[in-house]
Amino acid sequence: MSLTAIATEILKHAQALDVYIAEHDLPQPSFDRDGPAMFPLPGHAPDSLHKARTALMDASKTIYDLTEGPTNSVMWGSIAVSNHFTSMTLRALNSFCVADAVPLTDEGASYAEIAAATGVDEEVITRIVRHATTMRIFDEFCPGRVRHTASSRAMKENQLLKEAMKPCLEEGFQSAAHFNEAVAKFGGVEECKTTAFNIAFDTDDNYFTFIQRPEEQHRGKYLAGMMRYMWKYGGTAGKSHTAEEVLAGFDWAKLEGGLVVDVGGSHGSVEAALAPLHKELKFIVQDLPPVVELASANFNQLLPNAEDNCRVSFMAHSFFDPQPVKDADVYFFRHIMHDWSDTYCAKILKNIIPSMKKGARIVIVDYVLPDPGSAPKTPADGENRCGDLFMMSLLGGKERGAADWHKLVKLADDRLKILNINLPDNQVYGVIEIALDEE
Ligand SMILES: C[S@@+](CC[C@H](N)C(=O)[O-])C[C@H]1O[C@@H](n2cnc3c(N)ncnc32)[C@H](O)[C@@H]1O
Repeated sequence: MSLTAIATEILKHAQALDVYIAEHDLPQPSFDRDGPAMFPLPGHAPDSLHKARTALMDASKTIYDLTEGPTNSVMWGSIAVSNHFTSMTLRALNSFCVADAVPLTDEGASYAEIAAATGVDEEVITRIVRHATTMRIFDEFCPGRVRHTASSRAMKENQLLKEAMKPCLEEGFQSAAHFNEAVAKFGGVEECKTTAFNIAFDTDDNYFTFIQRPEEQHRGKYLAGMMRYMWKYGGTAGKSHTAEEVLAGFDWAKLEGGLVVDVGGSHGSVEAALAPLHKELKFIVQDLPPVVELASANFNQLLPNAEDNCRVSFMAHSFFDPQPVKDADVYFFRHIMHDWSDTYCAKILKNIIPSMKKGARIVIVDYVLPDPGSAPKTPADGENRCGDLFMMSLLGGKERGAADWHKLVKLADDRLKILNINLPDNQVYGVIEIALDEE
């Protein structure tokens, strides 16, 4: 394909999006301080437009990589050099609260003022922020002074973003740096206590046990923030990871007065969305004791309506122990299985089976990766693959494709059967419905 042909594709998709934006009186995409914080395409827009957006990102990345050239795109185009310094800069901005140090005014702040407000050496913060401006985070509108862009403004105003960045930039970034040592020391990745995370944090505890320690519990709070961020805003492109998918991906209405056990349900964001829509359902959210303590204390903020709130209860339970709640209609797992290798996932599933009544379902919401080679090389695809590496370096977990899910379910118990993988077009997040074969 010639460069002109790719550019023509770009033009076609950009025009489709521009027309929709103009016709619906939506804000123009912009990095200006007052520009929209998110790409202004609503989730309910026609699928063709979500596809146009993904295709636009794909074609733009292709033309960028091509014009950089194959060799230089490896050396300079983020793989060899930029990625870890991007993370270094984002981590510094996030943990030194740099965005908070710049007011939302035309004058912004000088580097000296940012240094004074953050307590970081002026030369250090200047160099970090100058790198950030290349990512359109802050604008150095005159030498020595920066003001906000839409991206830095989001880092100032969006508390969920501040929290969601942390697991990626702390545990994720540091584990990534120790990946090779972990491979050399431990070999494979089936075990959850012999990972890059274990080397990076010099611990024999697995990641989840580690973040339960009293002095490390802030990490658990940030993980919950990251989950809530994905639930609210989705992934790079499209609606993946959002509430809409879970609500639409399973026929909740058919349960009629049933009980849903959300295993590893963290702070109950799924219930906060489901309970108001399905008044006949009751929910039990299970998680590790410190998570449950925090979650139940704060659940009123997520779901203030008392009538809905009282149908949701919390229970401390480890999914590595037999499931204590018998005869629920659905045992629900969102973002759980991808944390663990097949060996551990099989244990988690086996622990549910003795509690399953006739007709009960296990419902898993997790990645269903496209078959290798079948996905366009979009940033979203890169994000999914990064997710896979993140899970591998943290806990030996992994993202799975449809064939992997079938294999895993059989490994857990021959009687388990996947009835349906509901994977909306253009998405990587699926709702997997599993039954016991004996019906
Ligand atoms: C990636 S988060 C997903 C949370 C939630 N399901 C969601 O989608 O927002 C994984 C959750 O598993 C919980 N978890 C980890 N180990 C657990 C265990 N042994 N038993 C129960 N929950 C556990 C963590 O505390 C965390 O809340």
